[in-house]
Amino acid sequence: MFNLILFGPPGSGKGTQSEKLIVQYGLKHLSTGDLLRSEIAAQTPLGMEAKKLMDKGQLVPDEVVIGMISSALDANPQAKGFLFDGFPRTVAQAEALDKLLKLKGTQISAMIALLVSEEELVKRLLNRGLTSGRSDDTNEEVIRARIVEYRNKTSVVADYYKQFDKFSEVKGEGTIDEIFAALQQEIDAYMEA
Ligand code: AP5
Repeated sequence: MFNLILFGPPGSGKGTQSEKLIVQYGLKHLSTGDLLRSEIAAQTPLGMEAKKLMDKGQLVPDEVVIGMISSALDANPQAKGFLFDGFPRTVAQAEALDKLLKLKGTQISAMIALLVSEEELVKRLLNRGLTSGRSDDTNEEVIRARIVEYRNKTSVVADYYKQFDKFSEVKGEGTIDEIFAALQQEIDAYMEA
């Protein structure tokens, strides 16, 4: 099984590139942001609680997202590999993911981070907010809060995978096809190793 984490700050292109990567490599896409937005759309109690934090640009509690990922892994026993997008976002989530995958006899193969400047992130997300209807994209204050949350709590997750030699970075600015090609090069190298 090849299990990939696509990593990077809000607006770095994780969702955009995930759509192409799952086709290329036949992976199952697991995005905790998408799973949370489905809960919000269905107006579940979990979704309503999560929305309050998401609208402020804050992370939802670890146990909530770990529970969602655990269920998603159980629901996809035939997957030939997973692409995690927006998860793990804390070291506690990374440790929990390792345990969940170990129970299934597998592990993370690689984490690849998309590098994008803060000004480009803000520009992209404000632009997307015009049409996406995502309530966390509509004002710059919330977008910057998401970036601060990434810096304070999430960026350290890279160190967790560095210690196992499973971390790489790719330039996340340029055309979508250029970035996709760079990601493919990294992934193919991990697959051949
Ligand atoms: P989540 O849904 O994961 O959002 P995010 O990390 O903020 O990332 P985005 O979806 O905004 O960006 P992206 O990197 O996918 O970029 P995209 O491809 O869309 O999380 C939302 C919230 O849920 C969090 O704030 C948190 O509250 C909660 N949450 C989720 N997971 C959690 C977890 N594990 N733990 C705790 N809380 C969690 O691209 C962005 C825009 O740029 C698009 O408009 C796109 O068209 C454009 N674009 C993409 N590539 C390019 C390019 N190369 N050039 C120009 N524009 C581009």
